[in-house]
Order: sequence, then C-alpha cells, then structure tokens
Amino acid sequence: MTSSPFPQRRMRRLRAKDALRGLVAEHRLTTDDLIYPVFVLPGENAREAVPSMPGVERLSIDLLGQETAKWVELGIRTIALFPVTPMSLKTECASEAFNPEGLAQQAMRALKKAFPEVMLMSDIALDPFTSHGQDGLLDETGYVMNDETVEVLIKQALSHAEAGADIVAPSDMMDGRIGNIRKALEEAGHINTCIMAYSAKYASAYYGPFRDAVGSAANIKGGNKKTYQMDPANTDEALHEIALDIEEGADMVMVKPGMPYLDVVRRCKDEFKVPTFAYQVSGEYAMHQAAFANGWLNEDAVILESLLAFKRAGADGILTYFAPQAAALLAKQNDK
Ligand code: PBG
Repeated sequence: MTSSPFPQRRMRRLRAKDALRGLVAEHRLTTDDLIYPVFVLPGENAREAVPSMPGVERLSIDLLGQETAKWVELGIRTIALFPVTPMSLKTECASEAFNPEGLAQQAMRALKKAFPEVMLMSDIALDPFTSHGQDGLLDETGYVMNDETVEVLIKQALSHAEAGADIVAPSDMMDGRIGNIRKALEEAGHINTCIMAYSAKYASAYYGPFRDAVGSAANIKGGNKKTYQMDPANTDEALHEIALDIEEGADMVMVKPGMPYLDVVRRCKDEFKVPTFAYQVSGEYAMHQAAFANGWLNEDAVILESLLAFKRAGADGILTYFAPQAAALLAKQNDK
C-alpha cells in the first residue's frame, strides 16, 4: 500500500480561480427568483417607515406606482401586495377583504394597468380585516371557524382575480381552502389565475415585524395562531399539508418562515418536485438589519448568501424584503 503524505484528491483545485468556481457552481440566484412583498397604505402621497423593518416603507398606491417602475428597472418581476387597513374598516366578519373597492383591489387594478407585465401576487387571509386580528371568523369561544372562513376566502380570492391578481396566495392555513378557491376561480372563468399556497406555514414568532407593518399585532385575540398555523416541531406534517394543497389544485407551494425551515423546503422539493417557494419573513429581515446596523455582518455579502441558501435548499423562488437590494447587487455582480 502506498501512502502519500500529500492529498490524493485536491478539492481546492476547482476553487483556485474565479472562472473555475463559476463553472462548477451548482446553484445561482437571479432576479427571476425574487418576489418582493410590499405594504400598501390608503390615501395619496403617503409614505411611512416600518420601525421594526429598517429600509421597508409602506406606500400609498401613487407612490407604489413610482417605486414599482424602479423595481422593474432592477429586474423584479413579481410583487406581493399587503394592504394596511385602517382600524375603522376592520370588523368581526372581515367584509372589507372582498370589497371590490378595497385597498388591495385598488392597488392591483392600478398596478396592472401601469405594469401589465409585472406579476401581482395577493395575500388571501382575513387578518388585515378582522377586528380581532385572527385569520378567520371566530365562534363564541374564540376558535377560528374553518368552513365559514373558507367561504369568505373564496370571495376574497375572486375579488382579487377580478382586480388583476396573477397569483392568489392563501396564507390563512384553513383546511380545504385551496380546492374551494380553485373551483370558484374556474367557475368564474379565471382559469389562468395561479394559486401559490402557503402550504407549510408555521405558527412562528418571526412574523412580529410584519404584524407591526400591517397593524395586526396589537390586537391578536388569544395571542397566537396555533390552532391553524403549524407547530414548529413538525416536518412530516408539512409534507402532508403540501400533498393536500397540490391535490386540491395549488400551482405552487410555499414554506414559511424561510431560513429556520430550509429542511422543510428540501424535503418538499425532493418529495413533490413542484414549484416550491420560501418566505424570508419579516423577523428574518429584521435580524439581518439589526446585525448590519451594528456592523456585525457584511450587508451585501450576507444578503446574497442568505438568498442563495434558499436555492440550495431547493426553492425555485424567494419572497424577500431584500428583493430590490439583492437585484441591485446581482446587477453589479453581472457587470463585473
Ligand atoms: C397573513 C400573513 C402573515 C405574513 C404573511 N401573510 C402574518 C401572520 O400570519 O400572522 C407574515 C409575513 C412576514 O412575517 O414577513 N396571514
């Protein structure tokens, strides 16, 4: 037996030069992978910072239009809209959710007209519209009623499709909502409206800053959403949820939150091979920003690394509040 003091196999050979590293790169992030979640304000010329999400602004529809032009210039092609509903419009039964003149619906009509090529994704859930902050209708004990909620979600999805949504994205975690929404869309002739199901959405503490942004934090009755969002302890259950949503007609599925749940993304992709997305949620964004603000992490490098990690885990795309910044960084990288 010959034993060399030197390595038989030099793994470092392919790492020695930039072009070689490029040749053997297994995954790549592009602007096509990015979905930008944005917060919409009522009124005109309104712009508000979100304190727990530095760099994120809530915008009225007119300003959203101006900013969208810039995002499109950067290569972003899909945006996800989240309306900020005034307290005065929130009710027990969330009827503002399917108001054809609601903020989300108005924003979609305006953006579709100005940017027909931009994919508009809409959130299907009742929490921005309920006075109690839960994603559905409550019974007298405070339990979120499944089937009654699905009835309202159907109306919401139809009103979004009518307003121009390319993708409706149920984020509510009620049982059976995907099949019922799919059926209603088909019957109404919206055969090409896609459904991206928030299939494996966990009852996560990482959503805090989002709830600040849409103003649904302070009032969540019962304090949590554990009777419908998933237990962070489970992954087999996530696969079960995803299987049901695919069977019921979801075109794309999602795992949420993102980085702490990349194992779920990988298992989903391996098992189902369907278009799989992940949401790098508000709390993940806030953690990164806090570290950047303190100079503890290199901002540009960490943003790109964090997003590439989703691709490596098997995600086809990522919802991320870093989308414009990431797109700008990718453009700079390509210029080099
Ligand atoms: C609404 C919804 C939430 C998020 C997206 N859609 C909050 C929640 O379920 O409480 C969270 C997104 C984020 O934290 O960035 N159902």
